[in-house]
Amino acid sequence: MIEKIIIKRKQDENNFIFSSKAKKTIELTLAKYPINQKNSAVMPLLDIAMRECNGWLPNNAIKHVSDILEMPFIKVYEVASFYSMYNLKPVGKNFIQICSTTPCWLRGSDEVAEACYKKLQIKKGETTEDGMFTVKEVECLGACVNAPMVQINDDYYEDLDSKSMLKIINNIIDGTKNKIGPQVDRKCSEPRSGLTSLLKEEKNAQ
Ligand code: FES
Repeated sequence: MIEKIIIKRKQDENNFIFSSKAKKTIELTLAKYPINQKNSAVMPLLDIAMRECNGWLPNNAIKHVSDILEMPFIKVYEVASFYSMYNLKPVGKNFIQICSTTPCWLRGSDEVAEACYKKLQIKKGETTEDGMFTVKEVECLGACVNAPMVQINDDYYEDLDSKSMLKIINNIIDGTKNKIGPQVDRKCSEPRSGLTSLLKEEKNAQ
């Protein structure tokens, strides 16, 4: 099983080519930038390339981006290696990013992380043997008001504790759909005690 995954990843790395859907997205993305400043599109193009490669960026994919943007490979590589949202090595099917910046840490991100490591039997930055999960600790993901939180692939799971984190992982393993967003009884970032302002609709509001 693991060998098959490694062989498949090697093939992905050597045979990288943008799909026609990705090429269309690239075209639309480049159209947002002045023609003489297309290197400004380096971050979205790296994101598109990463989505084509199961969540990571082989050198071949970075090279394709550098060719499209007419930028030196090393300049594109510098961007890819600087930001934590780009992975330079393969990740699991479910890529768990645990925010460990101060607000999340104060609200218990260590316990959330520990629950992941214990359940999946891996350490920080590692991938499970079956290729199902990778766990990485990252800086603020911009949802501090719902701390602690994690991002799994494109979804945010917020207001976590070790119990809710375990439930999310178990649901993924069982194939049960998870509720995204807050894992407690509140909508978005509303106070848990209920609304304290804007309690009634203002008449004649401009
Ligand atoms: Fe965790 Fe901002 S500190 S989302």
